[in-house]
Amino acid sequence: MALNEPLNRKLRMALIGGGAGSFIGRVHSIAACLDNRAELVAGALSSNPERSKASAPDYGIDESRAYGSYEALLDGESKLPEDQRIDFVSIATPNHTHFEIARAAVEAGFNVMCDKPMTFDLGQAESLMETVENSDVVFAVTHNYTGYPLVRQAREMIASGELGEINAIRTQYIQGWLRTQLEAEDQKQAAWRTDPTKSGAAGAFGDIATHAYNLGRYMTSELPESVSCHLKTFVEGRKLDDYGTAVIRYQNGALGTVTASQISHGRENDLEIEIDGTKGSLRWRQENPNEMIYRQNGKAHQIYTRDPNAAYMNDSGANACRLPSGHPEAFFEAFSNVYASAFDAMAARSAGQKIDNSNTVYPNICDGVEGMYFIQQCVASSRADAAWLPLKHAVARC
Ligand SMILES: NC(=O)c1ccc[n+]([C@@H]2O[C@H](COP(=O)([O-])OP(=O)(O)OC[C@H]3O[C@@H](n4cnc5c(N)ncnc54)[C@H](O)[C@@H]3O)[C@@H](O)[C@H]2O)c1
Repeated sequence: MALNEPLNRKLRMALIGGGAGSFIGRVHSIAACLDNRAELVAGALSSNPERSKASAPDYGIDESRAYGSYEALLDGESKLPEDQRIDFVSIATPNHTHFEIARAAVEAGFNVMCDKPMTFDLGQAESLMETVENSDVVFAVTHNYTGYPLVRQAREMIASGELGEINAIRTQYIQGWLRTQLEAEDQKQAAWRTDPTKSGAAGAFGDIATHAYNLGRYMTSELPESVSCHLKTFVEGRKLDDYGTAVIRYQNGALGTVTASQISHGRENDLEIEIDGTKGSLRWRQENPNEMIYRQNGKAHQIYTRDPNAAYMNDSGANACRLPSGHPEAFFEAFSNVYASAFDAMAARSAGQKIDNSNTVYPNICDGVEGMYFIQQCVASSRADAAWLPLKHAVARC
């Protein structure tokens, strides 16, 4: 297949965020370019214009396209001839900045890869959805765990009924890096994540429970009904939750749990999901992402390994692999799979096809809105002593 057919060229990327000392911007740049389907040509890499330009050589971005702000980037790129200007922007900045950057990029006609949580609050998310719906752009949210081959394998197994009816969805995302008040030491990533004016209404629940919740929704497609949540702040002086559990009732009668922690000693990025169906159960952990356990009573437990050539792999799982089994694939590759699915849509858009932004392999604007709704309802429930609140949403992914 030709490169990004029918476009037949690399897609041109702009990175917003990712300046010196930052985390996820670098991952975006590597993931987007892993398969040679994109090249990074422009950037507004920092909130500080000087630092923004100074960081450009780290990415090989030419001085002429190293911008001091996202506004200057969108303006400058819009004025370039079509055969030079960017095709998409990747937003890797703190949460409170996503909305304005994403809205401006969509209004300028650029495709968007936005990191999670999609916006600062639900109001912004709904407004952004309207803007996206009134455009023809591709809009993806980098819930990157959806890109793991065995996650996609599980999703197809569940959709085809291999697990039977889904009864339970248990997820947890356990970290320990905020066991102390790291934000008081001016640690960059800790500082904005624990600041309600930058992170949003939730701490651990906004940062990592959203990934866990999204993973359950992505793998099972079960629609939520209501939520009861208890959030706690264990580290003295911290302004947002650093631990919490939500119980979710799904519309089919299933029960789900989402637990998130930033204060568990020794825990790194332990995102885990277990799904119980009437015919079988699954377990997958992102710290050991090339294995998934499938169990049925009375049978030996089966370990699925990520193997593109194995007969037990379905198309969704096999197509998300790059390497033969046993050569570990992980975070970068999964992140890149989210990009690859969005690139397919971007190439289709370039050929004049209408983009359906609601039912896609990559997490989309609906997932972004749902994530913000989940955060809002969890915080509200917790403030009301874990009261049950609705978790229905008109834009639920199908
Ligand atoms: N998908 C994932 O697995 C994942 C992992 C980590 C972070 N994230 C998300 O990515 C985002 C960034 O997180 P991080 O840990 O990389 O943060 P960070 O603090 O390490 O980096 C943020 C970068 O954005 C820059 N920035 C801030 N405002 C800007 C603006 N207006 N214009 C241009 N640049 C600006 C900062 O200068 C910095 O370089 C957050 O929304 C976070 O939730 C997602």
